[in-house]
Amino acid sequence: MKLKVTGLEGVVAAETEIGYVNGVSGQLVYRGYAAKELAVHHSFEEVAFLLWHGELPDELQLKEFKKKLASSRRLTPELKQLLDAMPKEASMMSVMMAVIAASSGSAPSWPPTIEQAIHMTGILPSIIAYRYHQTHSAHSSQAAESEHREHAPDSKHDADWSEPTEDLDHVAYYLHLLFGRPASPAHIRAMNAYMILAMEHGLNASTFTARVVSSTESDLYSAVAAAIGAMKGPLHGGAPSGVIKLLEDIGSKEQAEPCMRAILGQGERLMGFGHRIYKTQDPRAEALREVTTALAGDDPWLDLAQHAEQTAIRLLAEYKPDRKLFTNVEFYAAAVMRAVQMPSMLFTPTFTAARIVGWTAHVLEQSQNNRIFRPQSTYVGPMPAGY
Ligand code: ACO
Repeated sequence: MKLKVTGLEGVVAAETEIGYVNGVSGQLVYRGYAAKELAVHHSFEEVAFLLWHGELPDELQLKEFKKKLASSRRLTPELKQLLDAMPKEASMMSVMMAVIAASSGSAPSWPPTIEQAIHMTGILPSIIAYRYHQTHSAHSSQAAESEHREHAPDSKHDADWSEPTEDLDHVAYYLHLLFGRPASPAHIRAMNAYMILAMEHGLNASTFTARVVSSTESDLYSAVAAAIGAMKGPLHGGAPSGVIKLLEDIGSKEQAEPCMRAILGQGERLMGFGHRIYKTQDPRAEALREVTTALAGDDPWLDLAQHAEQTAIRLLAEYKPDRKLFTNVEFYAAAVMRAVQMPSMLFTPTFTAARIVGWTAHVLEQSQNNRIFRPQSTYVGPMPAGY
């Protein structure tokens, strides 16, 4: 017998003031602000502060906050040892889960604090970059090789692990750590917008996981480690690889139309268009379009993505006139990832480094008025005789 699993669809598990998602009207709101405005006009730090504290920081608050976040970046010798001891074949997400769980130190387990959220958000890029450099220089491992087969970064990215000494903001620091050199302002801006738009999306599977773990009054580090486990699954943290392939197949502006006509002519789909929930413009795609339009002249991949999108919209209207297909967030996420030369093994970890802000904001909110999660199941199996 096939047992029914509802997936809690349509069930309201909590009230929240953090984020609002409306797929019908295409709205994504963080604490009363349109997420697309935040992504275009604000920094990662400002929006993280907003999600945790409920309001945007003033100048002084922002300065203090940036200092705190930056002071959380350093990996302790013990965490480096732990990272060095991890099996080479362990995936990046599994490593992140283990190291985050171990990084709690002697932090009190309950209630969760903003300081703990800042600590994990600050240290996560360092965990990712350290592990990336470790496995990247260990090409003998088959797992590392297969993870790197697609979209390997250029040779400059092979630079050894070194922590930038300059006073860099969060996103600039992450890119510098990963690639061993300063990122361009255009790339920082595009990645900043992407990471803001990835921070929060309602009670999705990983955010719900974090809330469930925390509802037992377990510590914030455990809640985040569990959420990373939920994010790891392909049904949730999936990667925009299909769009990257499309853009690489297109290769140049001249090829955009013939290449897409060939795909649509064979009855196949253009990756990065259409969405199950958003039946109108996806606000995250709109925001990233705006940012990439402003930056297109500075980066050939963003330029190509702009052109490819316009061509796709025109061709979709021709081939699927009644379907109202819009660009989805994966299209521009891919354009940004490709532009900054992010290796594909780092797509989901980078998404995680952003979504950690939403997870921790939800756990902090819930701790104000906690109740353990305890849904029920319907028993449909056999009963012992006499019951
Ligand atoms: N390219 C061409 N045609 C499309 C596309 C597309 N990207 N998306 C939908 N269609 C067409 C279908 O062929 C179908 O046409 P038909 O009825 O004439 O055969 C019609 O539109 C409806 O398609 P459905 O699959 O029923 O639409 P649904 O809303 O359920 O699908 C989905 C959403 C799965 C995202 C789909 O649009 C798709 O496959 N897109 C391409 C893959 C993609 O971009 N995935 C990332 C999604 S973003 C995210 O998950 C965060």
